[in-house]
Amino acid sequence: MIGTPPMLQGTLIRLRPLSPEGLPDLIRWYGDPEVNHWLHQSEYRDVSEERIRSKFGPGTEREGEVRWIVEAANGTSIGLIRIEGIEGAHSRAELAVSIGEKAYWSRGYGTDAICVALRHGFRELALRRVHLITDADNEPSIRCYEKCGFRREGLLRSHRLRYGEPLDMVVMGVLRENWQA
Ligand SMILES: CC(C)(COP(=O)(O)OP(=O)(O)OC[C@H]1O[C@@H](n2cnc3c(N)ncnc32)[C@H](O)[C@@H]1OP(=O)(O)O)[C@@H](O)C(=O)NCCC(=O)NCCS
Repeated sequence: MIGTPPMLQGTLIRLRPLSPEGLPDLIRWYGDPEVNHWLHQSEYRDVSEERIRSKFGPGTEREGEVRWIVEAANGTSIGLIRIEGIEGAHSRAELAVSIGEKAYWSRGYGTDAICVALRHGFRELALRRVHLITDADNEPSIRCYEKCGFRREGLLRSHRLRYGEPLDMVVMGVLRENWQA
């Protein structure tokens, strides 16, 4: 069992463990069509409060998952970042991130949050590899992940349906040795 993660400090942000107080922000962010568009759940046009509560509310923490709210230096909660699917046997995990406050997009906050979460993953959770998947047309996310040391590893053709339309997704991964370099 991994338990509650620590508070982590970056340059532009700090990561605060997700608690029930964070839920109203999550409900607002995931209910925003411009944010939801890029999320793997955007096939669900209505992101209900109930759905968010059942995924992120108290008692829904899953084995092998750590969740933080991304907080800007001015104290505003701006997003959510998770390391999930932590598999001790292979020392690997998946990263999921969303900056839900659109005013903070493309200002380096996502990059800082990911760097801090990766540092925790590689140093404290002893991970060897972290991967993620993103929509092939999500250029800002791909650029952001590359800045954090991720490399493109492959293409999952027609991997999901976005509003009913098949969409390719890019697999990206970072190994501890790449990250250290
Ligand atoms: C993806 C996301 C996490 C990135 O965080 P961010 O804080 O916006 O990203 P950063 O500012 O750290 O980096 C984004 C980079 O993409 C660049 N960028 C922005 N728009 C771009 C575009 N259309 N094409 C290419 N690059 C673009 C930015 O200029 C920046 O690069 P730079 O620092 O070299 O100038 C955030 O935008 C987000 O959560 N978006 C909505 C939901 C989402 O896409 N989640 C990810 C699902 S996998």
